[in-house]
Amino acid sequence: MITFILNNKLIQTEAHPGTTLLDFVRYGENLPGTKIGCREGDCGACTVLEGTYSNNIVHYKSIVSCLTPLGNAQGKHIVTIEGVNMKELSPVQNAMVDNAGTQCGFCTPGFVMSLTGHGLSEEPSDKEKAIAAISGNICRCTGYKSIEKAAESISELLKVKDINDPVKWLVENQFLPEYFLEISSRLNQIENKTKSIENSKIIGGGTDLMVQKPEEIAESDINLYYQRDDLKGIKEDVDSIIIGSATNTGEIMKSPVMLKYFPDIESHFKLISSEPIRNMGTIAGNFVNASPIGDLSIYFLALNASIILKESKNTRKIPLKDFFLDYKKLNLVKDEYIESVRVPIPKQKYLFNFEKVSKRTHLDIASVNSGIYLKVNEDLIEECSVSAGGVSAIPKYLSKTSEYLVGKKITNGTVFKANEILQEEISPISDVRGSVDYKRLLLRQLFFAHFIKLCPNSISLNELLS
Ligand SMILES: Cc1cc2nc3c(=O)[nH]c(=O)nc-3n(C[C@H](O)[C@H](O)[C@H](O)COP(=O)(O)OP(=O)(O)OC[C@H]3O[C@@H](n4cnc5c(N)ncnc54)[C@H](O)[C@@H]3O)c2cc1C
Ligand code: FES
Ligand code: FES
Repeated sequence: MITFILNNKLIQTEAHPGTTLLDFVRYGENLPGTKIGCREGDCGACTVLEGTYSNNIVHYKSIVSCLTPLGNAQGKHIVTIEGVNMKELSPVQNAMVDNAGTQCGFCTPGFVMSLTGHGLSEEPSDKEKAIAAISGNICRCTGYKSIEKAAESISELLKVKDINDPVKWLVENQFLPEYFLEISSRLNQIENKTKSIENSKIIGGGTDLMVQKPEEIAESDINLYYQRDDLKGIKEDVDSIIIGSATNTGEIMKSPVMLKYFPDIESHFKLISSEPIRNMGTIAGNFVNASPIGDLSIYFLALNASIILKESKNTRKIPLKDFFLDYKKLNLVKDEYIESVRVPIPKQKYLFNFEKVSKRTHLDIASVNSGIYLKVNEDLIEECSVSAGGVSAIPKYLSKTSEYLVGKKITNGTVFKANEILQEEISPISDVRGSVDYKRLLLRQLFFAHFIKLCPNSISLNELLS
């Protein structure tokens, strides 16, 4: 039995936990406002809000219902466009109308849900954040400018919202119906855990699996790790940052611990998927999917991360770079799962950078991506790790390049020589994202970009780019 609140209604269903929330909402509950566009997380027409109860507060975020296994809704508040409709249009809906942000209307419920989700966030609003909130929504008609204007005008209204209790403020200001005020106490009565089948197929956020095998998941026994609080969260101990394997990309990018050591992480992670996909996709899901261009894999390879693997009573710790064996082949035995990720706390005088090039800047997977970690002392590199994606069958840790750079002074000569070694280490193939030559050139440019960004005073830009 899966129990959750859908808009204002308590749902108790025996439906399979692997069916999509989208199908349940539209066909099981006859709520057609949530649209079906791509069923692959790309268009945002199916966006809904997911509210999670914790310590008397319900935290809301946008998710795509087409990739959400129904079981992940257990104990949550799921809000569709019908759940925010009132007698009068809300200020979000009004802004879409007033700014001509809607034409055929197919995408509109998705945009309204994303922007309402932005209102519900516990952060002050600004134009950039409001526009970022709709990074996962596509519109075929308007050309976006009118929707951007709507987002801007909504962010103006939200400037005075109470970030300590956004639900109450939004209800008082007619953004949300009154029943939202009761959701916290109602969710408190519902078990947050989902009954999972041990040693069955693990699902995190579903953003890879539900694209690749939706029919299979809808019929199989599944193990919903997204629901496991023991696998979530980010903390630091004496020498490492510990990230629970079911922590999602959005949580990592906003984590105070991560921001303390990697202040650019928000700008780096903005290049990964879209807000609703980041709200769902977990770090372990990215590693186990083992895409050669997986952004989190490349990021955490450069950070020299290790992973803790568990199976029944056995636990082992391996460097992330030893996890990827060959194309989609992993150092993971039957019934083993990733419990957590350990990132060594960077030592003093460290530099870190991440670069990604894709066909469009946002909501696109990389053609080539790369990360670098350097510990430097007066231009001398004392520690180094470089990673690159899209240039090998696996997310690649560039061990020879990294080794070469240790003990060297940062000069143009060092960077040129390191690039020669790097080019020997990679083995790109031509595919839809580019030819072999293009990917080699791209990685060279990204490698140079690391040094241009991190050590502008130690290198000559003109010589590097000539
Ligand atoms: C529209 C869209 C855009 C995307 N853009 C990007 C992008 O820009 N960059 C990028 O890198 N990725 C992108 N992705 C891919 C995806 O979002 C990420 O790879 C995400 O991190 C996957 O996590 P998940 O929890 O959703 O994985 P799931 O789909 O739930 O699982 C993926 C695999 O991991 C396994 N798994 C999950 N957790 C564990 C665990 N703890 N232990 C063992 N196995 C486990 C599952 O069994 C499955 O085999 C995109 C996806 C979509 C749909
Ligand atoms: S239907 Fe396109 S994102 Fe869900
Ligand atoms: S208004 Fe038609 S798709 Fe956006």
